[in-house]
Amino acid sequence: MSAKPVTITITGAGGQIGYALLFRIAAGEMLGPDTPLRLHLLEIPQGVRAAEGAALELQDSAFPLLTHVDVFDDARAAFSGANVAVLVGARPRSAGMERADLLAANGGIFGPQGAAINAVAADDVRVVVVGNPANTNALIAAANAPDVPRDRFTALTRLDHNRALGQLAPAVGASVGDLRNLTIWGNHSVTQFPDVAHATAGGSSVPALLAARLGGTDAARAWLVEQFIPRVAKRGAEIIEVRGSSSVGSAASATIDHVHDWLHGTSGGWTSAAVVSDGSYGVPEGLVSSFPVESVDGAWRIVPDLSLDAFARHRIDVSVAELIEERDAVRALGLL
Ligand code: NAD
Ligand code: LMR
Repeated sequence: MSAKPVTITITGAGGQIGYALLFRIAAGEMLGPDTPLRLHLLEIPQGVRAAEGAALELQDSAFPLLTHVDVFDDARAAFSGANVAVLVGARPRSAGMERADLLAANGGIFGPQGAAINAVAADDVRVVVVGNPANTNALIAAANAPDVPRDRFTALTRLDHNRALGQLAPAVGASVGDLRNLTIWGNHSVTQFPDVAHATAGGSSVPALLAARLGGTDAARAWLVEQFIPRVAKRGAEIIEVRGSSSVGSAASATIDHVHDWLHGTSGGWTSAAVVSDGSYGVPEGLVSSFPVESVDGAWRIVPDLSLDAFARHRIDVSVAELIEERDAVRALGLL
């Protein structure tokens, strides 16, 4: 076990995703089985009792890796020394809302939290924003943390990536573990583009497998455009409709995957994460957009030089246009 515990700050720790995350993190699933950790749980005053209750349960679970749990309602105290910051705390959408409808309600949370991270987090802090609209909230947080390198701010699209794997595996007759090199491009919203053009299953091309199983390239194309892409892109709404509230367990699981792979590296292909664009693939520099990414030496790197056909180009452009609209909307609200 390494000597110094890693400090993980979780905002919204008294909420649904927070509760699903805490026990898996404390069990070592995010940092690995040899890394001790301390948890800083940040809540608003109304949420503090729930977070305190979770802290009691963490104590009762006697996790060997967990050295401390502290509950805060002050962002500067909560982010003090944070090596990993998981920004969950925000209002979820309800049936009939789009995630962008949350801009005004949630955008105001992320500026002060970015400023607190800038002021007091550890030098190696890595931030993942889960609270919606996640990409633009990450943009706001990064803009308020001028001393933290841009590449430390990310937003979660791993849930979309995992959803796409879950839909694709039965369609090609493979297990999710055999699938590689699928990409979610753009926004964590209905405009996202789940792209299988470069994906493989057990080493075989996914588009070729789909064509073989569905009776030709036209049928494969129709399945992708009419079923796969909308099912993945609208899965958040489907979960809200079926469960009565937004995804929790899968969101927590994807958050753990995201941070785990960021710290430990990706092996055997790429994954998807929303990172600050460096201008790759024509995505304007500075927008927080989902890309195909590999993690190398603790940093996300956008996979370069993938070919994009006209359909892919169009789909990415549509999602990027939405990210630009969201950026302009938060600018108009004075949040950027
Ligand atoms: P929830 O309402 O159960 O919990 C949110 C918690 O955040 C509450 O306890 C609330 O008190 C707290 N909170 C609110 N403002 C805060 C602040 N300023 N600082 C600290 N804590 C604060 O909601 P949930 O189901 O846990 O979802 C949280 C967010 O995650 C929502 O915005 C939801 O839309 C989003 N989400 C994102 C993804 C994704 O893939 N990116 C997936 C699922 C949910
Ligand atoms: C999800 O994708 O499940 C979350 O972003 C919640 C939502 O509002 O869809």
